[in-house]
Amino acid sequence: MASTDSDAFVFFGATGDLAYKKIFPALYAMVRRSGLNIPIIGMARAGWTLDKLIQRARDSVQQSGDFDAASFETLAAQMRYVDGDYADPATFAKLKQALGAATRPIHYLAIPPSLFASVIQGLARSGCAEHARVIVEKPFGRDLATAQSLDRTLHEVFSEPAIFRIDHYLGKEAVQNLLYFRFANTFLEPIWNRHFVKDVQITMAEEFGVQGRGAFYEEVGAIRDVVQNHLLQVIALLAMDAPAGHEPEAMQAEKLRLFRAMRPLRPEEVVRGQFEGYRNEAGVAESSQIETFAALRLFIDTWRWADVPFYIRTGKCLPISATEVTVTLKRPPLSIFGTDEIMPRNYFRLRLSPEVVISEGALVKQIGEQMRGEPVELVARHHSGTEKSPYERLLGDAIRGDTSLFTQDDCVEAAWRVVDPVLTAPPPVQAYACGTWGPAAASDIVNEGETWHDPIPEKSSPC
Ligand code: BG6
Repeated sequence: MASTDSDAFVFFGATGDLAYKKIFPALYAMVRRSGLNIPIIGMARAGWTLDKLIQRARDSVQQSGDFDAASFETLAAQMRYVDGDYADPATFAKLKQALGAATRPIHYLAIPPSLFASVIQGLARSGCAEHARVIVEKPFGRDLATAQSLDRTLHEVFSEPAIFRIDHYLGKEAVQNLLYFRFANTFLEPIWNRHFVKDVQITMAEEFGVQGRGAFYEEVGAIRDVVQNHLLQVIALLAMDAPAGHEPEAMQAEKLRLFRAMRPLRPEEVVRGQFEGYRNEAGVAESSQIETFAALRLFIDTWRWADVPFYIRTGKCLPISATEVTVTLKRPPLSIFGTDEIMPRNYFRLRLSPEVVISEGALVKQIGEQMRGEPVELVARHHSGTEKSPYERLLGDAIRGDTSLFTQDDCVEAAWRVVDPVLTAPPPVQAYACGTWGPAAASDIVNEGETWHDPIPEKSSPC
């Protein structure tokens, strides 16, 4: 362990959904793969005991697939549990005691944003924030104003380099590969602009609904849940200029320039949908106007991207679970083959999940005397597994103090600036049936004569 590594991991919201689904499996994997060996302190107000928390962690790790009893026992031996109200100073006094000899803890706020302020104040007053780092879950605030106020609260106690705003999309292998593919190759750069690119589409489809998270979802909706963060981050990596230098600051600076060039959304360029049956979910209001689907058109006002539409679509209860980007190129200026056939355009397809695929759609000649073509896909990368889960990767980075894959305050605020007009004046929600591609009106978002590219199940990989 380097002397700048955090020497205790504290997570608020230890009995919650995120801890169960992501945090315990990530901690277990860190113990197993990298020998993580620091106190791990779960915080909650649930009247639980340490034994109950360990049992929950065991269930979580078993559910997530890979379970090695000895590694789990090593994790369990590092676990502590502190129960108490986050507004009560006594809770933080107990935390201070549980930290023991640790002097550089990292605190992970896996809790609703409404509780952030009291936890941060509790940490500061008890001395638990000294030499500490803090990880904050998304969505970071509810809009620009609340994000700014949250930043002020955080900055009263933590300096910016000690704040880790997590967006797990940035820890995904496929998202990292997107960045690598763009900037490790020379052939893309000359065509990666408005002169060659016709449009860019990104679809993040989920076959499932809100999975018991109705109360959380009522507070956010699809735009706050995944557009403001995951999908705008993907667009930023797709569209930014190359960073000048390899320090994290250089990358952040380019991303920030890109976020700032995104034109704020106009409500008339957004379609919001809600799947039929959403209002019957536990924790959802009978007349809820929250969107479980959003389709929108975004423009980036730079010389590189002026007038190129970036189409974003996401939803729950869609026909498939898959996230895919398609960058469609313009047609050649003239047809020289004397045929009037209209062939598909060239494109790049970047599948981000569940598989990682990078492929290029091209045209080749059909066998025969005529100069007729057929579309083919050249696959540059295709695999289904990834080594580390995004949470394992990002929590490990945060413990080591590496901010490269975390989002700085300016970028988060700039992203809120993009979606804010739609949050303030949302277009009405339109119902859609589960298993469809959202409300029919979503097709009006793409330009006339165009269609959305619906991801389909991936063919198995040749490599
Ligand atoms: C989360 C959202 O941030 O991302 C969820 O809150 C969404 O609603 C999830 O399902 C998708 O992430 P992944 O990595 O499971 O595709």
